Formats: sequence, structure tokens, C-alpha cells
Amino acid sequence: MEQSKIPSRGQWGSRLVFIFAAAGSAVGLGNIWGFPMNVAQNGGGAFVLVYLFFMFVVGFPVMLAEMVLGRAGEKNPVGALKNLKKGTPWYLVGGLGVFTGFVILSFYIVISGWTVFYFFQAAGGNLILPEGTAEAGVYFEEMYESMTANAGYEVVFMGIFLILTAVIVAAGVRTGIERAIKISMPLLLIILLILMFRALTLEGAGEGLKFYLVPDFSQLTFGTLNMALGQAFFSLSLGMGVMITYGSYLSKKENLPTSAGQVVSMDVVIAILAGLIIFPVIFFTVVVHGGDLDSLLMSGMGLVFQVFPQILGELPGGDGAVIFFSSAFFLLLGIAALTSAISILEVITAHLVDDWKIGRRKAAWLSSGAVFVVAIPTALGFGASAFFTNLPFAGGMSVFEVKYLLTFQILLPVGALGLSLFVGWVWGIPNALKEIQHETPTFVLKRTWCFMIRYVAPIAILIVLGSNLVSIFLG
Ligand code: PHE
Repeated sequence: MEQSKIPSRGQWGSRLVFIFAAAGSAVGLGNIWGFPMNVAQNGGGAFVLVYLFFMFVVGFPVMLAEMVLGRAGEKNPVGALKNLKKGTPWYLVGGLGVFTGFVILSFYIVISGWTVFYFFQAAGGNLILPEGTAEAGVYFEEMYESMTANAGYEVVFMGIFLILTAVIVAAGVRTGIERAIKISMPLLLIILLILMFRALTLEGAGEGLKFYLVPDFSQLTFGTLNMALGQAFFSLSLGMGVMITYGSYLSKKENLPTSAGQVVSMDVVIAILAGLIIFPVIFFTVVVHGGDLDSLLMSGMGLVFQVFPQILGELPGGDGAVIFFSSAFFLLLGIAALTSAISILEVITAHLVDDWKIGRRKAAWLSSGAVFVVAIPTALGFGASAFFTNLPFAGGMSVFEVKYLLTFQILLPVGALGLSLFVGWVWGIPNALKEIQHETPTFVLKRTWCFMIRYVAPIAILIVLGSNLVSIFLG
């Protein structure tokens, strides 16, 4: 890779690196942990269909819009919007993004910490079912609960994960992350495929697929629509400026529409795959071991952590295979989470560097310190502290649930709405097209994209947000 022309602000080595970084941000816990959980809790196949619709009709246009904004604005979301529309308050949309990133990171690292915990369990052989265990489901449920209810584990593993994230961001994204992603993404895909083949051949798999893939539209409410939209944004890392920040490190000669399309496709594939594993295993547990379907579907955050170890035990090859596959799986899941967490911390750090003139190292560590403090109540809200687990003023929700719903149902959709309006109406389509056609003179989807970013995306977001708010307030 040629190093000579790298400007002081930092630039990706090639388009491929940018794609991997953007895909690394997009593919994370949202795909493997969040997606199946949301499908399970929001009625199955109908949710999947709505989610796919939002991914392509709203997600893709907004993805391209963010990349364009970043490359044209050459800064973090706040600085970029300031650059592109000087003297107007539109940079506040970028500010909302930085704030949203802060909220997301303060719960994301908790779940990521769990992957670290499970990796150590896996490597230590603790995911091998002890002789005479009657119920694998019960065994893994107990393991999960003993972790989440333990304040020490929660804080320490989350801390380890955050320190890793901060070290990489402080060093500059270019050096370490690029290599890590190039290896980990293909490996993750391979492991997921192996698990998928095993899952699909389990007894009860057909029932699982039916739940997952056959839509039952009577399950849809405005709340589910809103969750599907939030899931699409979260999973694509949109609505808070990750792609603006990453786009700002991209050279002028790279093709943006293709990049956006590739990132969206990879993200969709990994989420769909995760579901092809989880749902057969859930129904296997129900059909073969007499598990209770409703409680499994509603088990929420723990779902993935309790279900994946069960299928690992079903692979041929004995204890060695369990140790190998389980460590590899949680390691790769941890890396996928790491590349996502890095992108969030990068937004906050780039904001401090660009707009507050703080050195990169200091900025990365300062923001991580603040995130850590704000994350502690989240970490303790899974049983370790009764107060944070059942907030009395939030109808008994946990700190995690409050932050998570706030992000999915409000912050990300509102951020994405602001960005689409900014590109479609304020900074304007001609400017955006100039930036895109700079290197892609024959932008085939030109008309479609313009129409989507001006009308379809904002209107869809407004309808979904508005009707959900109305339905919340009217009961
Ligand atoms: N897209 C990431 C995931 O699916 C999470 C994320 C959200 C990352 C928002 C950056 C910004 O896990």
C-alpha cells in the first residue's frame, strides 16, 4: 500500500479497507445477538420482512447519504455538517449523533463484555456439559445468570473490552483494525455457516424456519414497525454519524454507491444467517427437550448466549470440538463487537479531535473514561443491583432496557431523519450528486436514490415514529 500521499487527517489505504471498516462497524452484536432477539420478541417472519424492507428502502439511501456527507464534509458528524452548511444550527443533528453514540456505547460494551466472559468459559472447557446434566438449557441458563448477577464479572469484563477498544482508537484506526477485520470477518462467516448446517439438520428445525420465515402479519403493531426500523439503523450503524466519520477518511476517487450497497448486503447476510441458526435451535429445544416456547422466545438478551452453547454441544467430534468451536465462536463474536465499538468510539473521539482540538490519545481515553462511568449502572442492571434492574420510575425496566429502547425507537430514527432532510433539502441533492459523480459519473440509481432520500426515507421515518408515539400516548 502506498503511504506517501496520506494527508495529515488520516485516510484509508484503499476502498477495500474502507468497506471492511464500514462492514466491521455494521456487523456486530446487532446482527447476531440483537436481530434474532428482536425477531423472537416481535412476532417472527413478519418482523423479518419489514426489517428487510427498511434495510433496502431506508437503510441503503441513508447509508449512501452518510458516506457522501462524510467525504464532502471531511470531518466527524458535527464538524462535517458545520463545514457543509456554515452558520446554521444543522450541526446539532451531528451533535445528537455523538450523544447517541455515547448512549449506545454505554450499553454495547456490557454485552460485549459477556462475549469476553464466554470466551474464557469456552476456552476453559466450561461449555462442555458436565456428565449427567439433565437439561442443557437449564445448565446454560444458570451460567448466564451467575454471570449477569455478578457485579464483579459485569464490570471487569466490560472494562477489559472497553480498554481494548480505547487502545485501538487511541492508536488510530488504520493500523490494527484493518488487519483484524480482514481475518475475522471471513472466519466468522465460516463458523456461522458450519453452525447453520448443524442447526438446520436438528429435529424441529422446520418449525423454527416456519416461525422465522413465514410472516404472520397479525403480529405487526406500530411498536414492532418502530423496532424493525430501529433494528435496521442500529444494525447498519446509521443515524449517528459512523459512516460520516468513516467516509471522511475516504479518498475522493472511490465509488460510494457500490460501497454502500456492499456494506448493506454483508450486514443483511450475517443477520439472516444468525436467525437460521437460532430459530431451529430454539424449536429443537422445545420439540426434543420440552422447553417452553414462549419463555424461550421472550428470554431476550440471554437468548443467544444460552442457545449457541447448546448447539455447539450437538456438533460431532466430542469435547475437543466443543472447546474449539465455542472458543472460536465467542472470539469472533467478540471481534465483531470490537470493530463496532471502535467505530462508535471513533465518532466521539473524532468530534473531540476535530472540534475541540484535543489530541487523539487524550480524546480516546477521556471519552472511554466517561463511557465507563455511565456504563456501570447498565452493567449492574442485570440482577447485580435491584435498583438498576427494576427502575421504579421507568415502570420496572432495567437501565439497559431504557437505553436500548431510547436508542432504537427514538434517537437513531430521529438522527437518520435529520440527516436525510439535511442531504435531501438543506445541503441539497445537487451538491450530493456532485460528490458522488465525482468518481461515479454513471450512477445508475441516481433518480431512485434522490427520490428515496428526499421523500421515501423521511416520510417512512416520520410515519413510523409518529404512529408509535401516538399509540404509546393513546394507550
Ligand atoms: N452496527 C453495530 C451492530 O450491529 C452496532 C452499532 C450501532 C455500531 C451504531 C455503530 C453505531 O452491532
